[in-house]
Amino acid sequence: MFDRYNREINYLRISVTDRCNFRCIYCMPEEGVPHKQQSEILSFDEITEIVKVGAQLGITKIRLTGGEPLVQKNIDELVRKISEIPGISEITMTTNGVFLPKMAHKLKQAGLNRVNISLDTLNPEKFKQITRLGNLEDVLHGIDAAIEANLKPVKINFVRIPGVNKEDEKSIREFCDAKNLKLRFIRQMNLKTGEFYPVEGGAGGICAICNRLRLTADGDIVSCLHSSRRFNIRKLGIQEAFKLAVEKKPKCGVGTKSHEFFNIGG
Ligand code: 5AD
Ligand code: SF4
Repeated sequence: MFDRYNREINYLRISVTDRCNFRCIYCMPEEGVPHKQQSEILSFDEITEIVKVGAQLGITKIRLTGGEPLVQKNIDELVRKISEIPGISEITMTTNGVFLPKMAHKLKQAGLNRVNISLDTLNPEKFKQITRLGNLEDVLHGIDAAIEANLKPVKINFVRIPGVNKEDEKSIREFCDAKNLKLRFIRQMNLKTGEFYPVEGGAGGICAICNRLRLTADGDIVSCLHSSRRFNIRKLGIQEAFKLAVEKKPKCGVGTKSHEFFNIGG
């Protein structure tokens, strides 16, 4: 699919749930978020159908995000279903890593290619301060599990939080070098004001080469992280929702109140 600005759209990021076992200060309110009714959330069969149609339209890359995708039970079944769809050449996941010791092998067997793991500090107290509910040790075990399961190259997402983790960059660089992890620096963004930046070490945040669409857990295809243009697949039908989302994809987003990081997955 090509949009109005001749960008080829081949990448779909799927938020499988709004829920998360962490409450990162830059992503979620401390009290968490209201749980959606199960009936609002897309089933694995619906997601699979959406990816099938997407693949026919030219989607080749899928990323599963959240919230935290691994709080969704049996997510490896979804990975397997997606991996069997002709035309899908890469499936990745963005996760906080906590459940990887249990899940990494299963996910690899199901067809997941690789993971991005969020890690904003190697200091246990600061980790707790940033994630509110997280334990650094759990994530470090998750990283090792991902390496062992060959979900490679394992990438680390480091969010630069002003006034909080500048001094952690050096130790994270050394840690990633030693373990052969790819490190991406992401400046903390503000969706409401459309404050966003290119991802250092990644392709995100560069409007001119943006190849993405997003799918929310409740079935909206979102044209751009920083725009409110969204098209519901249950209301419009899958094909039409894709078509409109591509047609209306803005040249560059300017900010939105229609979603937040915990329901769009970054
Ligand atoms: N700014 C930038 N990135 C964010 N993420 C979540 N909230 C923000 C924010 N406010 C991204 C991070 C994290 C992933 C799950 O979502 O990259 O690793
Ligand atoms: Fe959860 Fe990731 Fe948001 Fe942190 S950034 S609260 S781990 S979804």
